[in-house]
Amino acid sequence: MRVNEPWWKTAVVYQIYPRSFADSNGDGMGDLPGVIGRLDYLQRLGVDVLWLSPVYPSPQDDNGYDISDYQGIEPVFGSLDDFDILVREAHARGMRIVMDLVVNHTSDEHPWFVESRSSKDNPKRDWYWWRPPRPGMQAGHPGAEPTNWASFFSGPTWELDPATGEYYLHLFSRKQPDLNWENPEVRQAIYAMMRWWLGRGVDGFRMDVINMISKDTSLPDGVPFAAGGLGNGWPHFVCGPRNHEFLAEMNREVFGDRPLLTVGEMPGVTLEQAVEFTAPERREVDMVFQFEHVNLDQGASKWDIRPFHLRDLKATFGRWQAGLAEVGWNSLYWNNHDQPRVVSRYGDDGPCRVKSATMLGTVLHLHRGTPYVYQGEELGMTNAPFTGIDDFRDIESVNHYKEAVTAGQDPAAVLAALRFMSRDNARTPMQWDDSPNAGFTTGTPWLAVNPNYKDINAAAAVADPDSVFHHYRKLIELRHTEPVVAHGDFTMLLPNDEHVYAFTRSLAGVELLTLGNFTGRSIPVDLPGWAGEKLILGNYPPDGNDGGIVLRPWEARVYRRTV
Ligand code: NOJ
Repeated sequence: MRVNEPWWKTAVVYQIYPRSFADSNGDGMGDLPGVIGRLDYLQRLGVDVLWLSPVYPSPQDDNGYDISDYQGIEPVFGSLDDFDILVREAHARGMRIVMDLVVNHTSDEHPWFVESRSSKDNPKRDWYWWRPPRPGMQAGHPGAEPTNWASFFSGPTWELDPATGEYYLHLFSRKQPDLNWENPEVRQAIYAMMRWWLGRGVDGFRMDVINMISKDTSLPDGVPFAAGGLGNGWPHFVCGPRNHEFLAEMNREVFGDRPLLTVGEMPGVTLEQAVEFTAPERREVDMVFQFEHVNLDQGASKWDIRPFHLRDLKATFGRWQAGLAEVGWNSLYWNNHDQPRVVSRYGDDGPCRVKSATMLGTVLHLHRGTPYVYQGEELGMTNAPFTGIDDFRDIESVNHYKEAVTAGQDPAAVLAALRFMSRDNARTPMQWDDSPNAGFTTGTPWLAVNPNYKDINAAAAVADPDSVFHHYRKLIELRHTEPVVAHGDFTMLLPNDEHVYAFTRSLAGVELLTLGNFTGRSIPVDLPGWAGEKLILGNYPPDGNDGGIVLRPWEARVYRRTV
Protein backbone atom coordinates (compact mmCIF):
# COMPACT_ATOMS: atom_id res chain seq x y z
CA MET A 1 0.00 0.00 0.00
CA ARG A 2 1.36 3.37 -0.99
CA VAL A 3 1.06 6.47 1.15
CA ASN A 4 -1.58 9.06 0.27
CA GLU A 5 -3.88 6.63 -1.47
CA PRO A 6 -6.93 8.35 -3.01
CA TRP A 7 -10.06 8.25 -0.84
CA TRP A 8 -12.10 6.32 -3.41
CA LYS A 9 -9.97 3.20 -2.95
CA THR A 10 -11.76 2.51 0.31
CA ALA A 11 -15.14 3.80 -0.88
CA VAL A 12 -18.31 2.06 -2.02
CA VAL A 13 -20.53 3.82 -4.54
CA TYR A 14 -24.32 3.49 -4.62
CA GLN A 15 -26.07 4.19 -7.90
CA ILE A 16 -29.45 5.89 -7.80
CA TYR A 17 -31.71 5.75 -10.84
CA PRO A 18 -33.82 8.70 -9.75
CA ARG A 19 -36.97 8.00 -11.75
CA SER A 20 -37.27 4.61 -10.03
CA PHE A 21 -35.98 5.39 -6.56
CA ALA A 22 -38.56 7.27 -4.49
CA ASP A 23 -41.49 9.45 -5.54
CA SER A 24 -42.33 12.25 -3.12
CA ASN A 25 -45.28 13.81 -4.95
CA GLY A 26 -47.37 10.98 -6.32
CA ASP A 27 -46.72 11.57 -10.04
CA GLY A 28 -45.37 8.04 -10.46
CA MET A 29 -41.77 9.17 -11.06
CA GLY A 30 -39.04 9.27 -8.47
CA ASP A 31 -37.58 12.67 -7.66
CA LEU A 32 -34.89 14.48 -5.70
CA PRO A 33 -37.00 15.11 -2.58
CA GLY A 34 -37.63 11.35 -2.66
CA VAL A 35 -33.87 10.74 -2.63
CA ILE A 36 -33.39 13.22 0.21
CA GLY A 37 -36.03 11.35 2.20
CA ARG A 38 -34.02 8.13 1.90
CA LEU A 39 -30.58 9.43 2.80
CA ASP A 40 -30.77 7.97 6.29
CA TYR A 41 -31.38 4.54 4.76
CA LEU A 42 -28.31 4.95 2.55
CA GLN A 43 -26.23 6.14 5.46
CA ARG A 44 -27.29 3.08 7.39
CA LEU A 45 -26.13 0.88 4.53
CA GLY A 46 -22.82 2.69 4.87
CA VAL A 47 -22.09 3.76 1.30
CA ASP A 48 -19.66 6.63 0.70
CA VAL A 49 -20.80 8.00 -2.64
CA LEU A 50 -24.13 8.44 -4.39
CA TRP A 51 -24.00 8.41 -8.19
CA LEU A 52 -27.14 9.95 -9.64
CA SER A 53 -28.24 8.86 -13.09
CA PRO A 54 -29.20 11.98 -15.10
CA VAL A 55 -31.60 14.45 -13.49
CA TYR A 56 -31.15 17.21 -16.08
CA PRO A 57 -33.96 18.64 -18.20
CA SER A 58 -34.68 16.09 -20.89
CA PRO A 59 -37.44 14.92 -23.23
CA GLN A 60 -36.79 11.51 -21.62
CA ASP A 61 -36.46 9.64 -24.90
CA ASP A 62 -33.74 7.55 -23.21
CA ASN A 63 -34.82 8.22 -19.61
CA GLY A 64 -32.68 11.32 -19.22
CA TYR A 65 -29.59 10.19 -21.14
CA ASP A 66 -30.86 12.69 -23.73
CA ILE A 67 -30.16 16.05 -22.12
CA SER A 68 -31.66 19.31 -23.33
CA ASP A 69 -30.07 21.56 -20.68
CA TYR A 70 -26.83 20.62 -18.91
CA GLN A 71 -27.25 23.20 -16.17
CA GLY A 72 -30.68 22.57 -14.75
CA ILE A 73 -32.89 19.95 -13.15
CA GLU A 74 -35.74 18.22 -14.95
CA PRO A 75 -38.91 19.61 -13.31
CA VAL A 76 -40.26 16.08 -12.83
CA PHE A 77 -37.26 15.45 -10.58
CA GLY A 78 -37.42 18.77 -8.72
CA SER A 79 -35.41 21.98 -8.84
CA LEU A 80 -31.86 23.24 -8.43
CA ASP A 81 -32.84 24.15 -4.87
CA ASP A 82 -33.72 20.52 -4.24
CA PHE A 83 -30.40 19.54 -5.73
CA ASP A 84 -28.51 21.90 -3.45
CA ILE A 85 -30.35 20.48 -0.45
CA LEU A 86 -29.45 16.97 -1.58
CA VAL A 87 -25.76 17.85 -1.82
CA ARG A 88 -25.83 19.51 1.58
CA GLU A 89 -27.74 16.70 3.28
CA ALA A 90 -25.60 13.99 1.70
CA HIS A 91 -22.41 15.78 2.73
CA ALA A 92 -23.76 16.22 6.24
CA ARG A 93 -24.07 12.42 6.42
CA GLY A 94 -20.56 11.86 5.06
CA MET A 95 -21.69 10.86 1.57
CA ARG A 96 -20.46 12.43 -1.65
CA ILE A 97 -22.40 13.07 -4.85
CA VAL A 98 -21.26 11.98 -8.30
CA MET A 99 -23.14 13.26 -11.34
CA ASP A 100 -23.78 11.42 -14.57
CA LEU A 101 -22.00 13.28 -17.34
CA VAL A 102 -23.56 12.59 -20.73
CA VAL A 103 -21.47 14.44 -23.27
CA ASN A 104 -21.06 12.06 -26.16
CA HIS A 105 -24.44 13.37 -27.28
CA THR A 106 -27.16 15.81 -26.31
CA SER A 107 -30.89 15.71 -26.87
CA ASP A 108 -32.05 16.92 -30.28
CA GLU A 109 -34.00 19.45 -28.21
CA HIS A 110 -30.84 20.94 -26.70
CA PRO A 111 -30.51 24.57 -27.89
CA TRP A 112 -27.05 23.70 -29.32
CA PHE A 113 -28.61 21.16 -31.66
CA VAL A 114 -31.63 23.32 -32.44
CA GLU A 115 -29.19 25.99 -33.62
CA SER A 116 -26.94 23.49 -35.35
CA ARG A 117 -29.71 22.06 -37.47
CA SER A 118 -31.16 25.49 -38.34
CA SER A 119 -28.86 26.03 -41.34
CA LYS A 120 -25.65 24.80 -42.91
CA ASP A 121 -23.85 28.00 -42.01
CA ASN A 122 -25.01 28.32 -38.43
CA PRO A 123 -21.99 28.85 -36.14
CA LYS A 124 -22.96 25.70 -34.24
CA ARG A 125 -23.33 23.56 -37.37
CA ASP A 126 -19.96 21.96 -36.70
CA TRP A 127 -20.84 21.15 -33.07
CA TYR A 128 -22.44 17.93 -34.35
CA TRP A 129 -21.62 15.43 -37.10
CA TRP A 130 -23.40 16.58 -40.26
CA ARG A 131 -22.70 14.86 -43.54
CA PRO A 132 -24.23 14.84 -47.04
CA PRO A 133 -25.68 11.62 -48.45
CA ARG A 134 -23.29 8.97 -49.71
CA PRO A 135 -21.78 10.12 -53.04
CA GLY A 136 -24.00 9.30 -55.98
CA MET A 137 -27.05 8.62 -53.82
CA GLN A 138 -30.09 10.66 -53.11
CA ALA A 139 -30.85 11.84 -49.58
CA GLY A 140 -33.46 9.69 -47.93
CA HIS A 141 -32.94 6.61 -50.08
CA PRO A 142 -32.07 3.44 -48.17
CA GLY A 143 -28.30 3.11 -48.09
CA ALA A 144 -27.69 6.84 -48.70
CA GLU A 145 -26.55 7.27 -45.08
CA PRO A 146 -22.95 8.55 -44.88
CA THR A 147 -21.85 5.26 -43.23
CA ASN A 148 -23.49 1.88 -42.77
CA TRP A 149 -23.14 1.91 -38.96
CA ALA A 150 -25.90 0.32 -36.89
CA SER A 151 -27.25 2.32 -33.96
CA PHE A 152 -27.30 0.88 -30.43
CA PHE A 153 -31.05 1.35 -30.46
CA SER A 154 -31.74 -0.34 -33.83
CA GLY A 155 -31.66 1.12 -37.35
CA PRO A 156 -28.91 3.28 -38.82
CA THR A 157 -26.85 5.82 -36.85
CA TRP A 158 -27.76 8.60 -39.28
CA GLU A 159 -30.93 10.64 -39.51
CA LEU A 160 -31.78 12.83 -42.46
CA ASP A 161 -32.73 16.38 -41.64
CA PRO A 162 -34.92 17.41 -44.60
CA ALA A 163 -34.45 21.15 -43.97
CA THR A 164 -30.80 21.06 -45.09
CA GLY A 165 -30.72 17.72 -46.88
CA GLU A 166 -27.90 16.44 -44.63
CA TYR A 167 -27.67 13.61 -42.14
CA TYR A 168 -26.60 13.88 -38.50
CA LEU A 169 -24.89 11.13 -36.55
CA HIS A 170 -26.55 9.50 -33.54
CA LEU A 171 -24.95 6.39 -32.09
CA PHE A 172 -28.00 6.02 -29.84
CA SER A 173 -31.56 7.20 -30.60
CA ARG A 174 -32.33 9.75 -33.29
CA LYS A 175 -33.12 12.11 -30.43
CA GLN A 176 -29.50 11.79 -29.19
CA PRO A 177 -27.27 13.51 -31.78
CA ASP A 178 -23.53 13.00 -31.21
CA LEU A 179 -21.48 16.07 -30.28
CA ASN A 180 -18.44 16.78 -32.40
CA TRP A 181 -15.53 16.72 -29.95
CA GLU A 182 -13.14 17.66 -32.75
CA ASN A 183 -14.47 21.20 -32.35
CA PRO A 184 -12.62 22.97 -29.49
CA GLU A 185 -15.65 25.18 -28.76
CA VAL A 186 -17.68 22.09 -27.93
CA ARG A 187 -15.05 20.90 -25.51
CA GLN A 188 -14.73 24.27 -23.82
CA ALA A 189 -18.51 24.53 -23.41
CA ILE A 190 -18.55 21.10 -21.76
CA TYR A 191 -15.66 21.92 -19.44
CA ALA A 192 -17.34 25.18 -18.38
CA MET A 193 -20.51 23.23 -17.55
CA MET A 194 -18.54 20.69 -15.53
CA ARG A 195 -16.81 23.43 -13.54
CA TRP A 196 -20.24 24.89 -12.79
CA TRP A 197 -21.39 21.60 -11.23
CA LEU A 198 -18.21 21.33 -9.22
CA GLY A 199 -18.94 24.84 -7.98
CA ARG A 200 -22.31 23.54 -6.77
CA GLY A 201 -20.50 21.00 -4.64
CA VAL A 202 -20.52 17.77 -6.61
CA ASP A 203 -17.69 15.35 -5.96
CA GLY A 204 -17.12 13.70 -9.30
CA PHE A 205 -18.52 12.40 -12.57
CA ARG A 206 -19.57 9.10 -14.05
CA MET A 207 -18.95 9.65 -17.74
CA ASP A 208 -21.44 8.09 -20.11
CA VAL A 209 -19.88 6.20 -23.08
CA ILE A 210 -16.85 8.44 -22.76
CA ASN A 211 -14.79 6.15 -24.98
CA MET A 212 -17.00 7.07 -27.94
CA ILE A 213 -16.27 10.80 -28.05
CA SER A 214 -13.40 10.47 -30.52
CA LYS A 215 -14.42 9.12 -33.91
CA ASP A 216 -12.32 8.22 -36.91
CA THR A 217 -13.02 11.45 -38.80
CA SER A 218 -12.82 9.70 -42.15
CA LEU A 219 -15.97 7.83 -41.11
CA PRO A 220 -15.33 4.47 -42.82
CA ASP A 221 -18.04 1.87 -43.26
CA GLY A 222 -18.13 -1.04 -40.84
CA VAL A 223 -18.13 -4.72 -41.69
CA PRO A 224 -21.78 -5.58 -42.48
CA PHE A 225 -23.58 -7.84 -40.01
CA ALA A 226 -25.41 -9.45 -42.92
CA ALA A 227 -25.00 -9.03 -46.65
CA GLY A 228 -26.32 -5.64 -47.73
CA GLY A 229 -27.32 -4.72 -44.20
CA LEU A 230 -26.05 -2.38 -41.55
CA GLY A 231 -22.44 -2.65 -40.43
CA ASN A 232 -20.41 -2.62 -37.24
CA GLY A 233 -19.14 0.89 -36.61
CA TRP A 234 -17.43 0.04 -33.31
CA PRO A 235 -13.87 0.02 -34.61
CA HIS A 236 -14.42 3.55 -35.87
CA PHE A 237 -15.85 5.19 -32.77
CA VAL A 238 -14.72 3.16 -29.74
CA CYS A 239 -11.50 4.38 -28.07
CA GLY A 240 -10.82 6.56 -31.10
CA PRO A 241 -7.61 8.37 -32.00
CA ARG A 242 -8.06 11.43 -29.73
CA ASN A 243 -9.81 9.77 -26.78
CA HIS A 244 -6.83 10.02 -24.42
CA GLU A 245 -6.04 13.54 -25.53
CA PHE A 246 -9.62 14.70 -24.85
CA LEU A 247 -9.75 13.11 -21.40
CA ALA A 248 -6.36 14.51 -20.41
CA GLU A 249 -7.51 17.93 -21.55
CA MET A 250 -10.73 17.62 -19.56
CA ASN A 251 -8.77 16.58 -16.52
CA ARG A 252 -6.45 19.58 -16.86
CA GLU A 253 -9.19 22.06 -17.56
CA VAL A 254 -11.72 20.88 -15.01
CA PHE A 255 -10.37 18.66 -12.24
CA GLY A 256 -7.06 20.18 -11.18
CA ASP A 257 -6.02 18.73 -7.85
CA ARG A 258 -9.51 18.36 -6.39
CA PRO A 259 -10.14 15.04 -4.66
CA LEU A 260 -12.84 13.90 -7.08
CA LEU A 261 -14.01 10.49 -8.26
CA THR A 262 -14.09 10.07 -12.04
CA VAL A 263 -15.23 6.89 -13.74
CA GLY A 264 -15.51 6.47 -17.46
CA GLU A 265 -18.15 4.13 -18.85
CA MET A 266 -16.33 2.35 -21.67
CA PRO A 267 -18.11 -0.35 -23.63
CA GLY A 268 -15.61 -2.44 -25.56
CA VAL A 269 -12.57 -1.13 -23.68
CA THR A 270 -9.69 -3.59 -23.50
CA LEU A 271 -7.56 -4.15 -20.43
CA GLU A 272 -4.56 -2.64 -22.20
CA GLN A 273 -6.56 0.50 -22.97
CA ALA A 274 -7.94 0.64 -19.43
CA VAL A 275 -4.40 0.65 -18.05
CA GLU A 276 -3.72 3.76 -20.08
CA PHE A 277 -7.00 5.48 -19.19
CA THR A 278 -6.47 4.95 -15.46
CA ALA A 279 -2.70 5.25 -14.99
CA PRO A 280 -2.49 8.03 -12.38
CA GLU A 281 0.43 9.83 -13.99
CA ARG A 282 -1.52 10.21 -17.25
CA ARG A 283 -4.25 12.10 -15.38
CA GLU A 284 -7.26 10.98 -17.42
CA VAL A 285 -9.85 9.14 -15.27
CA ASP A 286 -9.63 7.27 -11.96
CA MET A 287 -11.30 4.09 -13.17
CA VAL A 288 -13.40 2.72 -16.02
CA PHE A 289 -16.47 0.54 -16.30
CA GLN A 290 -15.51 -2.40 -18.50
CA PHE A 291 -18.08 -4.89 -19.77
CA GLU A 292 -16.38 -8.26 -20.21
CA HIS A 293 -17.96 -9.89 -17.17
CA VAL A 294 -21.47 -8.81 -18.13
CA ASN A 295 -21.07 -10.03 -21.70
CA LEU A 296 -20.19 -13.61 -20.77
CA ASP A 297 -23.74 -14.88 -21.24
CA GLN A 298 -24.15 -13.24 -24.65
CA GLY A 299 -23.31 -14.29 -28.19
CA ALA A 300 -23.39 -12.05 -31.25
CA SER A 301 -25.67 -9.55 -29.55
CA LYS A 302 -27.09 -8.99 -26.09
CA TRP A 303 -30.30 -10.72 -27.19
CA ASP A 304 -28.40 -13.88 -28.13
CA ILE A 305 -28.34 -15.41 -24.67
CA ARG A 306 -25.79 -18.12 -23.91
CA PRO A 307 -25.11 -20.24 -20.83
CA PHE A 308 -22.86 -18.63 -18.25
CA HIS A 309 -19.69 -20.48 -17.23
CA LEU A 310 -17.98 -19.68 -13.95
CA ARG A 311 -14.57 -20.39 -15.44
CA ASP A 312 -15.06 -17.55 -17.92
CA LEU A 313 -15.94 -15.17 -15.10
CA LYS A 314 -12.79 -16.14 -13.23
CA ALA A 315 -10.66 -15.75 -16.33
CA THR A 316 -12.07 -12.30 -16.99
CA PHE A 317 -11.92 -10.92 -13.46
CA GLY A 318 -8.55 -12.55 -12.87
CA ARG A 319 -7.10 -10.84 -15.93
CA TRP A 320 -8.45 -7.44 -14.89
CA GLN A 321 -7.24 -7.86 -11.33
CA ALA A 322 -3.74 -8.73 -12.54
CA GLY A 323 -3.69 -6.15 -15.30
CA LEU A 324 -4.57 -3.25 -13.02
CA ALA A 325 -2.55 -4.44 -10.04
CA GLU A 326 0.45 -2.19 -10.50
CA VAL A 327 -1.04 0.66 -12.49
CA GLY A 328 -4.58 2.04 -12.54
CA TRP A 329 -7.64 0.84 -10.69
CA ASN A 330 -10.70 -1.39 -11.19
CA SER A 331 -14.34 -0.58 -10.77
CA LEU A 332 -16.41 -3.55 -9.57
CA TYR A 333 -20.05 -3.99 -10.46
CA TRP A 334 -22.71 -6.58 -11.13
CA ASN A 335 -25.57 -4.26 -11.80
CA ASN A 336 -26.53 -0.87 -13.12
CA HIS A 337 -29.52 0.61 -14.90
CA ASP A 338 -28.53 -1.15 -18.14
CA GLN A 339 -28.03 -4.69 -16.83
CA PRO A 340 -30.55 -7.30 -15.76
CA ARG A 341 -30.54 -8.14 -12.04
CA VAL A 342 -27.52 -10.23 -11.15
CA VAL A 343 -29.36 -12.58 -8.80
CA SER A 344 -31.59 -13.60 -11.72
CA ARG A 345 -28.63 -13.82 -14.05
CA TYR A 346 -25.68 -15.45 -12.30
CA GLY A 347 -27.49 -16.51 -9.11
CA ASP A 348 -30.81 -18.14 -8.22
CA ASP A 349 -33.77 -15.82 -7.81
CA GLY A 350 -35.95 -18.67 -6.50
CA PRO A 351 -35.56 -20.45 -3.18
CA CYS A 352 -31.85 -19.55 -2.89
CA ARG A 353 -32.30 -15.85 -3.64
CA VAL A 354 -30.88 -14.52 -0.39
CA LYS A 355 -27.99 -16.99 -0.31
CA SER A 356 -27.03 -16.38 -3.92
CA ALA A 357 -27.39 -12.60 -3.71
CA THR A 358 -25.18 -12.47 -0.63
CA MET A 359 -22.64 -14.84 -2.20
CA LEU A 360 -22.45 -12.71 -5.35
CA GLY A 361 -22.04 -9.55 -3.28
CA THR A 362 -19.27 -11.15 -1.22
CA VAL A 363 -17.28 -12.33 -4.21
CA LEU A 364 -17.49 -8.95 -5.91
CA HIS A 365 -16.78 -6.76 -2.88
CA LEU A 366 -13.72 -8.74 -1.84
CA HIS A 367 -11.99 -8.00 -5.15
CA ARG A 368 -9.56 -5.13 -5.47
CA GLY A 369 -11.29 -2.06 -6.88
CA THR A 370 -14.13 0.29 -6.05
CA PRO A 371 -17.47 -1.55 -5.72
CA TYR A 372 -20.68 -0.09 -7.11
CA VAL A 373 -24.05 -1.11 -5.66
CA TYR A 374 -27.06 -0.45 -7.86
CA GLN A 375 -30.29 0.46 -6.07
CA GLY A 376 -32.17 -2.63 -4.94
CA GLU A 377 -29.12 -4.90 -5.34
CA GLU A 378 -28.70 -4.60 -1.57
CA LEU A 379 -32.17 -6.14 -1.25
CA GLY A 380 -31.56 -8.92 -3.75
CA MET A 381 -34.12 -7.43 -6.14
CA THR A 382 -34.85 -9.69 -9.11
CA ASN A 383 -35.75 -9.46 -12.78
CA ALA A 384 -39.41 -8.67 -13.46
CA PRO A 385 -42.08 -11.03 -14.80
CA PHE A 386 -42.86 -8.99 -17.94
CA THR A 387 -45.62 -10.68 -19.91
CA GLY A 388 -45.94 -8.71 -23.15
CA ILE A 389 -44.15 -5.97 -25.06
CA ASP A 390 -46.55 -3.39 -23.63
CA ASP A 391 -44.99 -3.96 -20.21
CA PHE A 392 -41.68 -2.50 -21.39
CA ARG A 393 -40.75 1.19 -21.49
CA ASP A 394 -37.06 1.10 -22.46
CA ILE A 395 -36.37 2.49 -25.93
CA GLU A 396 -33.71 -0.15 -26.62
CA SER A 397 -36.10 -2.98 -25.76
CA VAL A 398 -39.10 -1.54 -27.59
CA ASN A 399 -37.10 -0.75 -30.76
CA HIS A 400 -35.42 -4.14 -30.75
CA TYR A 401 -38.76 -5.92 -30.48
CA LYS A 402 -40.17 -3.99 -33.44
CA GLU A 403 -37.09 -4.53 -35.56
CA ALA A 404 -36.71 -8.23 -34.76
CA VAL A 405 -40.37 -9.08 -35.26
CA THR A 406 -40.52 -7.09 -38.50
CA ALA A 407 -37.48 -9.05 -39.67
CA GLY A 408 -39.45 -12.27 -39.12
CA GLN A 409 -38.20 -13.48 -35.72
CA ASP A 410 -40.63 -15.36 -33.52
CA PRO A 411 -42.26 -12.77 -31.19
CA ALA A 412 -42.28 -15.24 -28.29
CA ALA A 413 -38.54 -15.82 -28.63
CA VAL A 414 -37.84 -12.09 -28.87
CA LEU A 415 -39.92 -11.55 -25.75
CA ALA A 416 -38.12 -14.34 -23.90
CA ALA A 417 -34.78 -12.64 -24.58
CA LEU A 418 -36.17 -9.28 -23.46
CA ARG A 419 -37.53 -10.79 -20.28
CA PHE A 420 -34.05 -11.99 -19.39
CA MET A 421 -31.86 -9.17 -20.68
CA SER A 422 -33.95 -5.99 -20.97
CA ARG A 423 -32.73 -2.92 -19.14
CA ASP A 424 -36.20 -2.51 -17.67
CA ASN A 425 -35.41 -5.39 -15.32
CA ALA A 426 -33.13 -2.98 -13.47
CA ARG A 427 -35.54 -0.10 -13.69
CA THR A 428 -38.63 -1.38 -11.88
CA PRO A 429 -39.31 0.83 -8.88
CA MET A 430 -37.32 0.46 -5.70
CA GLN A 431 -39.14 -1.78 -3.24
CA TRP A 432 -39.36 0.10 0.03
CA ASP A 433 -42.06 -1.78 1.94
CA ASP A 434 -45.12 -3.99 1.48
CA SER A 435 -47.62 -1.16 1.08
CA PRO A 436 -49.22 -0.59 -2.36
CA ASN A 437 -46.63 0.04 -5.09
CA ALA A 438 -43.94 -1.02 -2.64
CA GLY A 439 -44.03 2.41 -1.03
CA PHE A 440 -42.38 3.86 -4.14
CA THR A 441 -45.30 6.11 -5.10
CA THR A 442 -48.85 6.91 -4.08
CA GLY A 443 -49.66 7.36 -7.78
CA THR A 444 -49.27 5.11 -10.79
CA PRO A 445 -45.63 4.09 -11.25
CA TRP A 446 -44.13 4.85 -14.67
CA LEU A 447 -43.00 1.19 -14.86
CA ALA A 448 -44.85 -1.54 -12.97
CA VAL A 449 -43.53 -2.52 -9.57
CA ASN A 450 -42.23 -6.09 -9.38
CA PRO A 451 -45.05 -8.08 -7.72
CA ASN A 452 -42.55 -9.78 -5.40
CA TYR A 453 -42.31 -6.57 -3.34
CA LYS A 454 -44.42 -8.06 -0.55
CA ASP A 455 -41.47 -10.31 0.30
CA ILE A 456 -38.57 -8.35 -1.09
CA ASN A 457 -38.48 -4.84 0.31
CA ALA A 458 -36.24 -2.55 2.31
CA ALA A 459 -38.38 -2.46 5.45
CA ALA A 460 -38.35 -6.25 5.73
CA ALA A 461 -34.64 -6.42 4.94
CA VAL A 462 -33.64 -3.82 7.50
CA ALA A 463 -35.62 -5.73 10.13
CA ASP A 464 -34.00 -9.08 9.31
CA PRO A 465 -30.40 -9.53 10.49
CA ASP A 466 -29.84 -12.27 7.88
CA SER A 467 -31.01 -10.16 4.95
CA VAL A 468 -29.10 -9.18 1.84
CA PHE A 469 -29.17 -5.60 3.16
CA HIS A 470 -27.27 -6.44 6.32
CA HIS A 471 -24.83 -8.60 4.41
CA TYR A 472 -24.03 -5.70 2.07
CA ARG A 473 -23.75 -3.41 5.10
CA LYS A 474 -21.13 -5.76 6.54
CA LEU A 475 -19.25 -5.96 3.25
CA ILE A 476 -19.08 -2.18 3.08
CA GLU A 477 -17.96 -1.96 6.69
CA LEU A 478 -15.28 -4.56 6.06
CA ARG A 479 -13.83 -2.45 3.25
CA HIS A 480 -13.73 0.51 5.60
CA THR A 481 -12.10 -1.30 8.49
CA GLU A 482 -9.81 -3.94 6.97
CA PRO A 483 -7.07 -2.38 4.79
CA VAL A 484 -6.36 -5.63 2.94
CA VAL A 485 -9.81 -5.44 1.29
CA ALA A 486 -9.06 -2.16 -0.42
CA HIS A 487 -5.32 -2.39 -0.90
CA GLY A 488 -4.21 -6.02 -0.73
CA ASP A 489 -2.75 -8.06 -3.57
CA PHE A 490 -5.11 -10.42 -5.36
CA THR A 491 -4.45 -14.07 -6.22
CA MET A 492 -7.00 -16.18 -8.07
CA LEU A 493 -7.27 -19.81 -6.91
CA LEU A 494 -8.88 -22.84 -8.55
CA PRO A 495 -9.18 -21.12 -11.97
CA ASN A 496 -10.56 -24.25 -13.61
CA ASP A 497 -13.10 -25.17 -10.98
CA GLU A 498 -16.60 -24.89 -12.47
CA HIS A 499 -18.41 -24.47 -9.18
CA VAL A 500 -16.37 -22.52 -6.67
CA TYR A 501 -14.94 -19.01 -6.94
CA ALA A 502 -11.86 -18.69 -4.71
CA PHE A 503 -9.17 -16.08 -4.22
CA THR A 504 -6.89 -14.60 -1.63
CA ARG A 505 -5.99 -11.02 -0.80
CA SER A 506 -2.89 -10.18 1.16
CA LEU A 507 -1.32 -7.14 2.70
CA ALA A 508 1.29 -6.67 5.40
CA GLY A 509 0.99 -10.12 6.93
CA VAL A 510 -2.81 -10.33 6.70
CA GLU A 511 -4.36 -12.80 4.31
CA LEU A 512 -8.03 -13.22 3.39
CA LEU A 513 -9.54 -16.17 1.56
CA THR A 514 -12.88 -15.59 -0.16
CA LEU A 515 -14.97 -18.54 -1.33
CA GLY A 516 -18.21 -18.52 -3.26
CA ASN A 517 -20.27 -21.55 -4.24
CA PHE A 518 -21.94 -20.77 -7.56
CA THR A 519 -24.23 -23.80 -7.34
CA GLY A 520 -27.27 -24.96 -5.41
CA ARG A 521 -25.41 -28.07 -4.18
CA SER A 522 -22.91 -28.74 -1.42
CA ILE A 523 -19.36 -28.68 -2.79
CA PRO A 524 -16.16 -29.71 -1.02
CA VAL A 525 -13.26 -27.32 -1.54
CA ASP A 526 -9.73 -28.58 -1.76
CA LEU A 527 -7.78 -25.78 -0.11
CA PRO A 528 -5.85 -27.32 2.77
CA GLY A 529 -4.95 -25.27 5.78
CA TRP A 530 -7.83 -22.82 5.81
CA ALA A 531 -10.67 -24.73 7.50
CA GLY A 532 -9.61 -23.83 11.02
CA GLU A 533 -8.89 -20.18 10.33
CA LYS A 534 -11.07 -17.34 11.52
CA LEU A 535 -14.29 -16.87 9.56
CA ILE A 536 -14.91 -13.11 9.44
CA LEU A 537 -17.92 -13.07 7.13
CA GLY A 538 -20.29 -15.60 5.67
CA ASN A 539 -23.89 -16.13 4.65
CA TYR A 540 -24.50 -19.28 6.73
CA PRO A 541 -23.90 -19.97 10.41
CA PRO A 542 -20.49 -21.65 10.91
CA ASP A 543 -20.72 -25.41 10.32
CA GLY A 544 -18.25 -26.23 13.07
CA ASN A 545 -16.29 -28.41 10.69
CA ASP A 546 -12.61 -27.69 11.09
CA GLY A 547 -11.51 -30.77 9.17
CA GLY A 548 -12.18 -29.55 5.66
CA ILE A 549 -14.32 -27.04 3.84
CA VAL A 550 -17.64 -28.10 2.36
CA LEU A 551 -19.59 -25.15 0.98
CA ARG A 552 -23.34 -25.32 1.28
CA PRO A 553 -25.63 -24.18 -1.61
CA TRP A 554 -24.57 -20.66 -2.71
CA GLU A 555 -22.46 -20.30 0.39
CA ALA A 556 -19.90 -17.50 0.71
CA ARG A 557 -17.09 -17.40 3.25
CA VAL A 558 -14.32 -14.98 4.04
CA TYR A 559 -11.49 -16.36 6.18
CA ARG A 560 -8.75 -14.26 7.74
CA ARG A 561 -5.33 -15.28 8.94
CA THR A 562 -2.07 -13.61 9.75
CA VAL A 563 1.09 -14.98 8.23
C1 NOJ B 1 -24.99 4.37 -21.53
C2 NOJ B 1 -26.06 4.55 -20.50
O1 NOJ B 1 -25.72 3.84 -19.35
C3 NOJ B 1 -27.35 4.09 -21.13
O2 NOJ B 1 -28.39 4.00 -20.22
C4 NOJ B 1 -27.67 5.04 -22.24
O3 NOJ B 1 -28.80 4.58 -22.94
C5 NOJ B 1 -26.52 5.20 -23.22
N1 NOJ B 1 -25.24 5.27 -22.60
C6 NOJ B 1 -26.70 6.44 -24.04
O4 NOJ B 1 -26.52 7.59 -23.25
